[in-house]
Amino acid sequence: MAEAVIVSLVGIYLMVLANGVHCFEEMTFTLKVPNLQRKQNLGCHPPEARRVKAAIILEMKERGHCSSVSEKRSQRLEQLAQDEHHVRTIQSRIQGEEIPIRSGMKLETMNYVVSVGLGGQNVSMIVDTGSDLTWVQCQPCDSCYDQQGPLFQPLSSPSYKSILCNSTTCRTLNPSPGACASAANCDYVVNYGDGSYTSGELGVEQLSVGGVWITDFVFGCGRNNKGLFGLASGLMGLGRSHLSIVSQTSSTLGGLFSYCLPSPDSGLSGSLVMGNDSYALFNNNNVSYATMLSHPDPHLSSFYILNLTAITVGGVPLLNASSSFGKGTLIDSGTVITRLPPSMYRAVRAEFLRQFSGYPWVARFSILDTCFNLRGYKEVNVPTIRFYFEGEDEEVSMNVDVSGILYVVKEDASQVCLALSSLSDEYETPILGNYQQRNQRVIYDTNNNRLGFAANPCTFTT
Ligand SMILES: *[C@@H]1O[C@H](CO)[C@@H](O)[C@H](O)[C@H]1NC(C)=O
Ligand SMILES: *[C@@H]1O[C@H](CO)[C@@H](O)[C@H](O)[C@H]1NC(C)=O
Ligand SMILES: *[C@@H]1O[C@H](CO)[C@@H](O)[C@H](O)[C@H]1NC(C)=O
Ligand SMILES: *[C@@H]1O[C@H](CO)[C@@H](O)[C@H](O)[C@H]1NC(C)=O
Ligand SMILES: *[C@@H]1O[C@H](CO)[C@@H](O)[C@H](O)[C@H]1NC(C)=O
Ligand SMILES: *[C@@H]1O[C@H](CO)[C@@H](O)[C@H](O)[C@H]1NC(C)=O
Repeated sequence: MAEAVIVSLVGIYLMVLANGVHCFEEMTFTLKVPNLQRKQNLGCHPPEARRVKAAIILEMKERGHCSSVSEKRSQRLEQLAQDEHHVRTIQSRIQGEEIPIRSGMKLETMNYVVSVGLGGQNVSMIVDTGSDLTWVQCQPCDSCYDQQGPLFQPLSSPSYKSILCNSTTCRTLNPSPGACASAANCDYVVNYGDGSYTSGELGVEQLSVGGVWITDFVFGCGRNNKGLFGLASGLMGLGRSHLSIVSQTSSTLGGLFSYCLPSPDSGLSGSLVMGNDSYALFNNNNVSYATMLSHPDPHLSSFYILNLTAITVGGVPLLNASSSFGKGTLIDSGTVITRLPPSMYRAVRAEFLRQFSGYPWVARFSILDTCFNLRGYKEVNVPTIRFYFEGEDEEVSMNVDVSGILYVVKEDASQVCLALSSLSDEYETPILGNYQQRNQRVIYDTNNNRLGFAANPCTFTT
């Protein structure tokens, strides 16, 4: 028996209005071509602004020495604020902190975006579990892409400090410590797999995520940024390396975070939870946990990898593709469309076509090669798609939400595609992208090396 979900075309139509063809073109850019060459090159070069930054650090230190009465009052205010931050942070260890996560459509990206406070300034960041460094575009900027809202201004934030090249922080983060002989700022370069990049200097700042304050947060002040970041201020790196926000907050937030990614047409907001929020994680749903694999290659050790053991389409297991199962699969919020090895993709596609038959075929669209004309149909039966991963005791399954199975290209439903894509080579690593992670709570429990899924319509309200 084939399982199927009935989709009303009215729903599809609404989805189209939100997606739009223009945004589709954005999508082809936003997609991070699966590749494992995302490198963090932290190199140190003497930056011009160094003296200016050093002066700011001195200024901070001096404030305590020569404080007038009014400065003392403002210090107390600051300390009380810090104390409140401290309490909130302790609370968050117990409760977690939940902030809205939204589709980046309005920011011209198909990734998901959160707003956080950086040194008191609002910034929007793409949520990326596939990379580590958190960064924003910084003023003064050598070369910045257009973003919504003003650039981050380190000079007007009293809590901003640049990291010096001779500091322990820079040495620990810098893979080539010998290159860092002078006391210049600690420069960084990150090249992403799709050709996007950011470079600038590392700094520390207060980051506020919802009500939780993270002090001395190490991030990239990007002065030369280019690529597929839409109009977002930058990117939040939620990978596994010591540089990521997850590692930097692990003593307080327990290396645990989760998100629920809404479908853009729903008008609902999802949420990103940093820490152990018992409501989000345990009261809603049954969570099944898959086991995280560690990749033998140290360059890939910062990815979240699960063992993909099977896929079913409409309840039918794809036995013929079994040779490509049992492989490590990346779980990435920064990739949009799921990529499967060619043999596996062919098997999914063939079974999907067997069950989703009788609809007129139309031309492929970009990376989506299986497209239909559904115009004039009132309802279509869409086979369910379920991914199985190796768990501690048993296989864990993740049901792809119906909004993650089809991609509507044309508003009148005359071009609707299967929202999966093939890798070019059998040996490439499969990636579970954000399109197929919609409407689930996905829980990253790094301390226990497990990743949980729970079906969960995203209905976060602030
Ligand atoms: C930052 O965003 C929050 C929430 O959207 C808003 O309440 C606040 O006024 C914003 N602050 C600034 C400085 O724009
Ligand atoms: C780093 O360099 C700065 C500026 O030259 C100097 O003041 C500081 O003491 C140095 N710190 C360390 C840890 O060497
Ligand atoms: C999160 O909190 C729940 C309930 O309080 C607890 O059972 C669970 O072990 C915690 N998880 C982690 C990773 O701390
Ligand atoms: C959790 O799963 C069990 C077994 O599948 C089911 O009986 C129970 O109703 C579920 N609970 C919730 C809250 O979904
Ligand atoms: C495998 O594929 C072949 C040809 O496509 C088909 O005849 C056969 O039934 C399939 N076997 C299984 C177990 O699905
Ligand atoms: C994935 O799971 C299968 C079945 O349990 C196992 O045979 C295979 O070795 C696992 N692969 C990895 C990379 O751990």
